[in-house]
Amino acid sequence: MDPRNGYRLVVVANRLPVHYDQSSDERWLPSPGGLVSALTRVLQSHEGLWLGWPGVTHPHEKPTSYEGIDLQSVDISQDEYERFYLGFSNATLWPLYHDAIRSPNFHRHWWEAYVTVNERFARAAARHAGPGATVWVHDYQLQLVPQMLRELRPDLRIGFFLHIPFPSIELFMQLPWRRRILAGLLGADLVGFQEPHAAANFSRVARRLLGVAGTDARLHQMGREVRVGAYPISIDIAQISRLVHDPAVRARSQEIRAELGSPEVVLLGVDRLDYTKGIQQRITALAELYRDGVLQAGRDVIVQIAVPSRESDPHYERERRHLEQSVSEVNGENGQVGRPVVHYLHQNMPFEELVALYLAADVMLVTPFRDGMNLVAKEYVACRADLTGRLVLSEFAGAATELRAAFLVNPHDLDGLKESITQALTTDEKSARRRMARLRRQVASRDVFQWADGFLTDLAGRSQDLDEVRDGVDDEIGPHGGPVHLVEGADA
Ligand code: G6P
Repeated sequence: MDPRNGYRLVVVANRLPVHYDQSSDERWLPSPGGLVSALTRVLQSHEGLWLGWPGVTHPHEKPTSYEGIDLQSVDISQDEYERFYLGFSNATLWPLYHDAIRSPNFHRHWWEAYVTVNERFARAAARHAGPGATVWVHDYQLQLVPQMLRELRPDLRIGFFLHIPFPSIELFMQLPWRRRILAGLLGADLVGFQEPHAAANFSRVARRLLGVAGTDARLHQMGREVRVGAYPISIDIAQISRLVHDPAVRARSQEIRAELGSPEVVLLGVDRLDYTKGIQQRITALAELYRDGVLQAGRDVIVQIAVPSRESDPHYERERRHLEQSVSEVNGENGQVGRPVVHYLHQNMPFEELVALYLAADVMLVTPFRDGMNLVAKEYVACRADLTGRLVLSEFAGAATELRAAFLVNPHDLDGLKESITQALTTDEKSARRRMARLRRQVASRDVFQWADGFLTDLAGRSQDLDEVRDGVDDEIGPHGGPVHLVEGADA
């Protein structure tokens, strides 16, 4: 492809697939994750471009390629970092879209920066996309881009996927710029969400606030059709399967159990350190279970990985302080010299080490107050090829729509949380294996590559051929996202 003619496929996301690491000679290191693998593979096959922010406000040098795909940096200034990233994206939209767990702040000067940065992304996409190209825009930081881009380049096919929840109408109505955000999203040909009810929330609020016509699955905006659907994201199942069978990873998982003092039960939590993840509530529940004697020091051990995130935001700083205080209280009350009951790590983990931890854990605790999907839940299930392991999962994670066989819990209900953890610990092996087999069938039904293909296929309009077939079931909004292969008993 000659980039002078423009790319056929452009991915637009707030972050590039690499991040800056001052301590490494390489400087630009890959950002791990299934999403990066999936989009990288799609871009490789289309010789496409990834357009995003390199994650630092004043990069000395900019990354230009990753795994054979071209990268294009979109810069943001220190002031925009504060108003667009920390401000409107993460202190207005993030809490609002996560059930207002923390009060969202509404500031006009944050909104102005959001508009400016979205315009910059839209202009960059318009510059680099070839005639009739496909542009796939990602996540809440860039909700105005579809409309801005359409105005600049009406020839493009534009898709948008929201990785986080889309809130209920009542919450969304709080947003002073609610009409602008809706109009921004309606610039896309296809708007995808993690869950059917998020898609329905969006279509309903668009009809109510902007008066657009249409059903939950198809809206009509200024003579165009905007399709709306659920495309639940997944994981790179083959990569996890490879690691699960890697002798070094298996040995490491045994070593971890030995390092933990060879306990009978290992309970594990892996989260970005975010107030939406319910980590502190989980630690409180576990502390009470030690006090009640359900958990016993020496016999039962907890590992909590809290990946550093958005550390300059005061909500995140406070969350960390409170969490670390709770952890030290549980350890103070229940631990012994050289034997804490909670092993807490506030750091990034290589993916191999994470998989070793998943293999070492008897009970996985995924208890967010609200989460778009939560891939940790799916990764854990994908690791348990021998059908061992028990998953405690919040009803408020998108993953709960699919993973019905988990020990489902309302994380706001402390007693309920304790009960579900107790149930996970005490359920007999046969029924626990049955649950895990069901979870694995569900996770195996769609990997992240099928998710990306499914979205892009629908965006390409092939789904329109299905319209006649679907006549009369127009309100079907998902889940979509690729062919479903059920692999019973096979390694997920
Ligand atoms: C969530 C969001 C992503 C975001 C990630 C990390 O998963 O959906 O868009 O990139 O968190 O957050 P950060 O603020 O570090 O990009």
